[in-house]
Amino acid sequence: MISEEEVNSLMIAMKKRYGLDFTNYEPKSLNRGITRLMTKYNMNGMIDLWGRILNDEDFFVNGIDDLLVNLTELFRNPDAWIMIRDEILPQYRYDREIKIWHAGCSTGEEIYTMAIVLAECDLLRKSKLLATDLSKTALEKARTGSYSHASLKNYLKPFLKMYPDRKLEDYFDYAESNATIKPQFARNVKFMNHNLVDRKMDQKFDVIFCRNVMIYFDQELKARILSFLNECLNEGGHLILGYYDTMPNQSIDIFDVYSNSTRIYKKRVSQTNHTYEQESINSR
Ligand SMILES: C[S@@+](CC[C@H](N)C(=O)[O-])C[C@H]1O[C@@H](n2cnc3c(N)ncnc32)[C@H](O)[C@@H]1O
Repeated sequence: MISEEEVNSLMIAMKKRYGLDFTNYEPKSLNRGITRLMTKYNMNGMIDLWGRILNDEDFFVNGIDDLLVNLTELFRNPDAWIMIRDEILPQYRYDREIKIWHAGCSTGEEIYTMAIVLAECDLLRKSKLLATDLSKTALEKARTGSYSHASLKNYLKPFLKMYPDRKLEDYFDYAESNATIKPQFARNVKFMNHNLVDRKMDQKFDVIFCRNVMIYFDQELKARILSFLNECLNEGGHLILGYYDTMPNQSIDIFDVYSNSTRIYKKRVSQTNHTYEQESINSR
């Protein structure tokens, strides 16, 4: 049994040693991750783990994958994708360019889902997609766009809910054991290692996906990241969260709810002009 105090002190030491800040991650989820790591490497207790994490950078880089949860799927939560296809993307139909960011893209299934949906809406050629994650190993897999036949089989049901007349073979090249996304669906995708906690991004986007990433953050970190994502959105841009993500109270006045059931939000139109007009009316 690992205490919250032990988890916290390890996170502080990791932050000092590697500059990676997990201190505001949800303690229960960190606890599960630490237990996973210790079981995997047959460790006797926290002292073993401390030594390994703080003295062996390679172990740390690989080990963070056990602390983070990389679970993802193609066409995850199809109701959200149906709304994205039928209501959100048509709003960008006449824009010169559509910029989309998948923050916490994991092994890439989400970004290739987006590329397929954009292609089906005939919008892929004018879209620029950025996929980022903290985990370098997840990103490596995402770059390959290659998935086992077994996992693609699991994705078939949500895929067919969206495109009943299509086959996954229309989008993936099947080889003996794996299937790889066809190059035309990966052409506009850029991958980058990025830590959301650092709150750095030098571009703005029309749509940001941050699905099932903040469920591992505490309320304070969640609110900080949501305000950062808000700054990274163009005026009126859309934020798409995961099914289990919740919006903390501090963040509800910077976003308008587009759809509660699919966790789609819209950046609230800036209050600056309103305040300015309001002030000039008041001073008349
Ligand atoms: C459960 S997966 C979600 C993947 C995908 N968005 C989805 O919903 O299917 C969570 C991802 O968030 C990433 N992650 C966790 N903390 C992060 C951080 N501080 N910055 C960037 N990515 C992070 C993890 O590495 C993991 O790949």
